[in-house]
This record gives sequence, structure tokens and C-alpha cells, in this order.
Amino acid sequence: MDPLTALAQFESEGLAAIAAATDAAALEQVRIQFLGKKQGRLKDLQSVVGKATPEERPVVGKRFNEAKDRVTEALEARLNEVAKPKIAATAIDLTLPGVPTDFGRLHPLTQTMREFREIMARFGFEVVDGPELEDEPHNFNALNIPLDHPARDPLDNFYLAAACTAHGKPVLMRSQTSTVQIRVMEHRPPPVRVISIGRVYRPDDIDATHHVMFHQMEGLMIGPDVTMASLKSVLKMFAAAYLGGDTEVRFRPSFFPFTEPSVEVDVRWKGGWLELGGAGVVDPNVLQAVGYNPEEVGGFAFGLGIARFCMLRHGIDDIRLFYQNDIRFLKQF
Ligand code: PHE
Repeated sequence: MDPLTALAQFESEGLAAIAAATDAAALEQVRIQFLGKKQGRLKDLQSVVGKATPEERPVVGKRFNEAKDRVTEALEARLNEVAKPKIAATAIDLTLPGVPTDFGRLHPLTQTMREFREIMARFGFEVVDGPELEDEPHNFNALNIPLDHPARDPLDNFYLAAACTAHGKPVLMRSQTSTVQIRVMEHRPPPVRVISIGRVYRPDDIDATHHVMFHQMEGLMIGPDVTMASLKSVLKMFAAAYLGGDTEVRFRPSFFPFTEPSVEVDVRWKGGWLELGGAGVVDPNVLQAVGYNPEEVGGFAFGLGIARFCMLRHGIDDIRLFYQNDIRFLKQF
């Protein structure tokens, strides 16, 4: 066989054997068979090349190196290939685009309540909490609400059925956070400077501005020199901090059994006045009910609707949106 044909045969058979080998051990056999230094087919070809005539030699020599290199490279490439871990046909497709993750966020009312706590903390108010399920002494009696007061009407409150209550005493979902004023003063002597933010419940027809459950921020400040002027300053500072530095605050005369004098608090908004809640100077009867001496201390209290502020700030026009859990609405805040 002439040297060039022998080299071509070596190359094609070597490449075929390499392609057919499926693991490293089989490839090692192929290497020994074709490229082995001691007795491989390449070694045999060396003598064939040696027998070429002087004219043939440069061509045959070049072809020898070429065939040797091709087989060696193919062997290395195949070795790399079989060394790779096999991915099962059912495994994940790494080239697919990922599934985007939706990030959650805080409910707008939660955001508002957090901001309220932060602002009031800057004014030195401590955050306290009270139960949503209340008894009449805390929801009414201690707040100077007489037995025949319309605010006690069972149709205006969520009373629990008598069977549900522990000692046969009436229990209701609190209708105002003012209950927390009483709970705090019962347990600590003056001075007091607290806020309490939470849910309150009142039967009502649900519409764009009313709901049967809503949130209030109650504020209470008691001390020797706490007056109506202190109340006005604190609420002005609060409105400025949340709604903007130039927000005007207005007090209108009003009535609550637990404050005297009492006011409704309004803020200026888009050319009109918006009612934010009630406030006033704590009635001496309330101070007496918790064992404080009205001759020594006085104070103010306020109860503001949380949703109102949030709606003003964000231009939300329907309170029901807060409770529908519509992701398209919630996503915006
Ligand atoms: N509790 C009153 C309400 O729910 C608001 C209020 C709180 C008024 C404190 C005066 C003082 O409407």
C-alpha cells in the first residue's frame, strides 16, 4: 500500500473509532491502538513513511504529521465530551427565560399607620395598644357616656351575643379608640403622652366614605399645663408633617361626652375643608373615673380617622378600595 493511502486509512479509521467510543476507558483503548508509542498503528506508519522515495518524502512527511494531529485532537475533544455529566432529557431547560417574581408591598393603610407612629414618636408620644373586644366600662362608662346616651344603642354597636360573654357582662367590638385612654390612665400616674392606632367597629351602610370597620389614631396628653393650645400645636405639627408644611388646620366647636370643650378638626384641602376627627380637653369626670385629680392635671385627647389622611395624600376617592384586596389598586403604593 502506498504511504498516502495508508495514512488516509489510518486517519479515517481512527476518527471513526473515536466517534464510536462512549467513555474514557474505550477512548484509552483507541489511543493505544492508534497512537500508542510502542506498537500502535502510528508506529507502524513511521516505517512506511521511512520507505518513501526522496521525492515523495516532503509530501508524505507533511501528511503524516497532519493525520497524527487530527486523530490526536479528535481524541482529546471526544474525551472532554464524554467527561461532561449527562443531563437527563427531562431536566430543566437552562436557556428558558426565568419566571419574574412579584414583590409584595405594605398596604397603603399600613404605610400610613407606620408613618403616623413615626411622626408622633418625634413629638415624644409613646405608642400603646388596647383590645378590640371591649366591655361597657371602657367603651362608655369611664368615658362619661351616660346609660341613656344614644351612642350606646345596640343598633349602633357590634355587641356580642350574651352567650358569648364570660361573666354575663355585655361585650362589644370597640366603637372608638378612646377606650385606650382609659386603659392607659387606669394603670399609670400622670404625666401621659401616648398614641394608639387601631381598628374600630360601627354598624353603618357601606359606601365611598363609610365602612363598618375603620382605623383611628387616638392621642392623649396629660400633665399640669396641658391645654387646648397644646392640642392645637400638636395637631398643626402633625398635619404639617404628614400632609405638607403649609397645611392649614381649623377647629370647629363640637360635643363629645369625654371632652369639654370639644372640637372637630378640619384641614384645608384643594380649596375646601376636610374633617379629620374629633378632639378636645379631657373632661374632669373622665380624669376622676381613673383616679386622677382634675385640680392637679389636665390634658387633651384626639381621635383621627386614618383612612381620611391616606385618601387625601394619595387622591383615593373610595374607602372600599382599601378592603377589596385588588392587586391592581394595591400595587400603586
Ligand atoms: N372618639 C371620638 C370618635 O370616635 C373622637 C374623639 C377622640 C373625640 C378623643 C375627642 C377626643 O369620634
